[in-house]
Amino acid sequence: MVGEKHRLSPIEISQEEFRSLGYQLIDTLADFYNSFDDLPVTTGETPKQIQSLLGTDSLPDSGMPVSELLKSTSDLLVKHSLLNGHPKFFGYITSSPTQIGALADLLAAAVNPNVGANILSPVATAIEKQTVKWLAEFIGVSSTYGGLLVSGGNMANFTGFLAARTAKAPKSLKEDGLANTTEKMVFYCSKATHTWIEKAAVLFGHGTKAIRWIPIRDDNKMNTQVLEQTIKDDITNGYSPFLVVGNAGDVSTGVVDDLSEIARICKENQLWFHIDGAYGMPAAAIPQCKAMFHGFQDADSIALDPHKWLYAPLEAGCTLVKNPQHLTDTFSAHPVYYNFDHNADEPNLNFYEYGLQNSRGFRALKVWLALKQVGRAAYLNTIREDITLAELLFAEAKKHPELEAVSQNLSITTLRYVPINHGADESGQESFLNALNEKLLNRLQEGGEVFLSNALISEKYCLRACIVNYRTSEKDIRETIEIIVREGRKVLSGL
Ligand SMILES: Cc1ncc(COP(=O)(O)O)c(C=O)c1O
Repeated sequence: MVGEKHRLSPIEISQEEFRSLGYQLIDTLADFYNSFDDLPVTTGETPKQIQSLLGTDSLPDSGMPVSELLKSTSDLLVKHSLLNGHPKFFGYITSSPTQIGALADLLAAAVNPNVGANILSPVATAIEKQTVKWLAEFIGVSSTYGGLLVSGGNMANFTGFLAARTAKAPKSLKEDGLANTTEKMVFYCSKATHTWIEKAAVLFGHGTKAIRWIPIRDDNKMNTQVLEQTIKDDITNGYSPFLVVGNAGDVSTGVVDDLSEIARICKENQLWFHIDGAYGMPAAAIPQCKAMFHGFQDADSIALDPHKWLYAPLEAGCTLVKNPQHLTDTFSAHPVYYNFDHNADEPNLNFYEYGLQNSRGFRALKVWLALKQVGRAAYLNTIREDITLAELLFAEAKKHPELEAVSQNLSITTLRYVPINHGADESGQESFLNALNEKLLNRLQEGGEVFLSNALISEKYCLRACIVNYRTSEKDIRETIEIIVREGRKVLSGL
């Protein structure tokens, strides 16, 4: 009742019940983390089968006991999810999530700071600020870089894209809009760039024709000679280039573009240099990879995703900008109903002024805690081990008479199944191999022993393993080779 001293709400859980439910849930999760070796990566159930687990009931009118709900829901999730924490999960770029991240998300949700404004989240804002600073330190860019946590790679790249546009577009753009600017703004990226760039072109009003897709060379890096020439031609033809995107670990093969060459071209043409390092950027800190990333410190903005190669649970991306004023210039607004700046003995950092979100959750906590739990040295070691395992997969595929090792960069290896005595160069054979490997991938994904994804490399349909998984061991890699070959033979005999 509202009039009671302590209002009785159907939402609130009593202290004792919360304690006991929490213990039970943690017990379930402790067992879950320990059970990956006995569970399939995925059950391969169809959407229909999964739907039938939920039933077709309408929205319930009255509630249920929480204990029952948590028990049945944890059961549902543990038994029917794809487990990206499984040691043989190598699909796309989703990491085996840190356990401290799961606890951090619980803590963050319980305290529930709104990290849009400093006054609403004094400690959380300070922690996010420190997290961003540490991420910049981790990869090794100057301390001028600032930024914020976002939901992932798409948002991190969008944020950099919009900061670039504010910095380089005519100052009237904000008032007049793109449609009324006389400038025909264009931007550049390699053909290997992730699909976020198309979304940005569409959503932010440029249209996909404003994307200049630069071809890649045989080594999958952007052809920077073509880039330079295309920029020249565009300027001659009355276009206004404003941004070049370099990949630091492209989504398909993990290739890092020639960043120093892109930085030079950007400098000479006064263009914004953005790096999509959503996946690969943490590897810039590994001594053996440093040369590959040469030039990244010249970037005006960098996207990097803790939920990829820093193993944060979803969602955690980050945008770093060399001069964060460009973020405020892009996103800041001061409505009368915000009373966020009074009594500050130093200028406040209100994260709503740095990005697309207004109310913001406390994503930084899981990243900050993991950085503190693990420390830089052990993080670097783990990332390096992931690379070593990807190299092992490539080497084992190369040795195997029924496999073709196709590419290996950072922690991504691509390979395909090629039956013995198969004339891969004969006409028609390539399309046969593509069909075979596509079928094989589907079979592997449904089978649940190992989870790979695919990449199309020089028209070859390849199986792709991306190892951002601190649970994977050499044994998993060797078993993966055996599984691919065993299942490859079965698919072949069925064709
Ligand atoms: C290089 C790169 N950029 C951007 C993205 C998009 O990231 P997200 O799915 O977190 O939005 C990905 C996803 O794999 C990626 O590999």
